[in-house]
Amino acid sequence: MFNKMIAGILPYMPKKLVWIFSKRYIAGENIEDALRESRKLNAEQTMVTVDILGEYIKELSEATENKKQYIELIKRFTDEKIDGNFSVKPSMFGLLLDKESCYQNIREIVAAADECDSFIRVDMEDSTCTDAEVEIFRRLKAEFPTRVGLVVQSYMRRTLSDVRDLMDMHSEEAPLNFRLCKGIYVEPVEVAYKKYQEVRDHYLEDLEYMLQNGIYVGIATHDKYLVDKAFELLEKYNTPKDKYEFQMLYGVTPDLRSRIMSAGHRMRVYVPYGVEWFGYSTRRLKENPNMAWLIIKALFVR
Ligand code: FDA
Repeated sequence: MFNKMIAGILPYMPKKLVWIFSKRYIAGENIEDALRESRKLNAEQTMVTVDILGEYIKELSEATENKKQYIELIKRFTDEKIDGNFSVKPSMFGLLLDKESCYQNIREIVAAADECDSFIRVDMEDSTCTDAEVEIFRRLKAEFPTRVGLVVQSYMRRTLSDVRDLMDMHSEEAPLNFRLCKGIYVEPVEVAYKKYQEVRDHYLEDLEYMLQNGIYVGIATHDKYLVDKAFELLEKYNTPKDKYEFQMLYGVTPDLRSRIMSAGHRMRVYVPYGVEWFGYSTRRLKENPNMAWLIIKALFVR
């Protein structure tokens, strides 16, 4: 009830106010900000995956501009020898407007990453995008077997079946490479598990399947319970350190991040930047209503 109320209010809050609480989740508005924060993280032995903010574009012309920005980003980060890769949201390239043109744009980005010896992760968006995003990943992986990975969400009822279906693209030389997360979009109960523990249980089921089958996995969570269970599974399957990594969002649970790294696991932080920070921030704030409550209080308490 409270969460629903917060979710309803957030889009109407003044941007300046939301920014005060959002800036901890965002590297900044431009490429220099992303470079600066990535260098800092690299200095802390943390890899990065960089995301240019923006999603669900309205005009295909925006996709061309977004593609150019990504290609520039990849070249800059390669020149600067940043230890990192890149994450893309297909709806930022017109997934819901023209699937083929979206694919061609992302293909050009992956080709640029290939030239720079880098890697692109296709983020997973809401369930209206899932089929198309799995398909885009399939096509890209067929052409660039070691340059592309996909996100899967443990709250989706279909996830384990999708992962199993994709096993035909898995090999020792070019393993499947997934980021496993819980999932952040509001989905109907027909397509997604809703109960907190249920989502966790499916997360562990998916993770176990991946480790059993030699799939490379980015264990993306800030949930201590899942982190501890993941440690157990990694030990159970004696998974080599270079066959998985932990992943966290910029600005979230740095203490847990340190704990994981102190235990000798590799860590990658998701570094978002760009002028389109509002949608990303309001999703993070809806996820953590305590922060949104602070914003609401700030509206009234002067
Ligand atoms: P959970 O939400 O239960 O959080 C566990 C604890 O972490 C909380 O109790 C709190 O302490 C802390 N925490 C979590 N979120 C916080 C926040 N915003 N601010 C402060 N503290 C917070 N989703 C998706 O649908 N598609 C995608 O492509 C991605 N990509 C992605 C990349 C990476 C690297 C990460 C880490 C996550 C994603 N996600 C995502 C988001 C993911 O699906 C999920 O919504 C969040 O990671 C939160 O889930 P947790 O597993 O952290 O558990």
